[in-house]
Amino acid sequence: MLAKLFLDLTEYPWFRRAVWKPIYNHLAKKFPYENWVFMNYGYDPIDEQERPPLQEADEPDRFNIQLYHFLATQIEIKGKKMLEVGSGRGGGASYIARYLAPAEIIGMDLAENAVAFANKRHQVPNLSYVVGNAEQIPFPDESFDVVINVESSHAYGSVEKFFAEVARILRPGGHFLITDMRDPNNLDRFEKRLLGSGLELVSKKVINPNTLKSIEMEDDLKRKRIRAAVPPRYVAFFEEFSGVKGSQVQKDFEEGKLIYFWYVLRKKG
Ligand SMILES: C[S@@+](CC[C@H](N)C(=O)[O-])C[C@H]1O[C@@H](n2cnc3c(N)ncnc32)[C@H](O)[C@@H]1O
Repeated sequence: MLAKLFLDLTEYPWFRRAVWKPIYNHLAKKFPYENWVFMNYGYDPIDEQERPPLQEADEPDRFNIQLYHFLATQIEIKGKKMLEVGSGRGGGASYIARYLAPAEIIGMDLAENAVAFANKRHQVPNLSYVVGNAEQIPFPDESFDVVINVESSHAYGSVEKFFAEVARILRPGGHFLITDMRDPNNLDRFEKRLLGSGLELVSKKVINPNTLKSIEMEDDLKRKRIRAAVPPRYVAFFEEFSGVKGSQVQKDFEEGKLIYFWYVLRKKG
């Protein structure tokens, strides 16, 4: 979660490698709140009839969940072996394990504290979390049917290395699902790198209207949760970081200075 200014700074690979891990590690250690299990801007379908049914306990996370739901259901997940790269506090992999019936899902994240939090917080059959780096994924060649990656790739030193790793660990015919945001000026380069990995494009979508709807719909609850959870001196930081109404990041999405997208790709074979 971030504003364009910070995203621009993070154009430098060394800067990205240096800043992101300590930030997410610190957040997981300093704020171990049980009910904080997502870190993305969310998604809401324009037609609300399309919203998936959720158990009551998951309702507060509906918009974050929907980002996972609508991306993951672009393909058939049932019975597949999945890896989530950049699983954060674990809510997304937990949703997929509980609702979409993969054979197994492993969440992987660079931040050890986030992984420890996720393993403790989400105890679901066929779900586990491990520490690992997107640029050097600690799994053998052709070991997954699906790799999913949600609002995380902007933090990687080299997305090319990440895409090469995804192509390596996917089985032939396997899918790569990625959603994130970029400055529009960098989007072509991002797509070239993505397609340069040898994976073939199945579909892509710009989801700014869905992100903005999510920011709008979630605003009251997000503000309440922040005020209930963090000391007053952190409230402004968390409101900006999590993208409340009126935040810089919301304006950037509105004005098209940040593009939120998803891509669905497939390994040939
Ligand atoms: C904005 S959070 C999103 C977390 C989760 N996908 C979600 O939607 O709730 C980005 C996550 O990417 C992780 N990350 C950053 N760099 C990484 C890397 N090189 N390898 C794996 N994970 C990384 C961070 O630690 C953080 O947990």
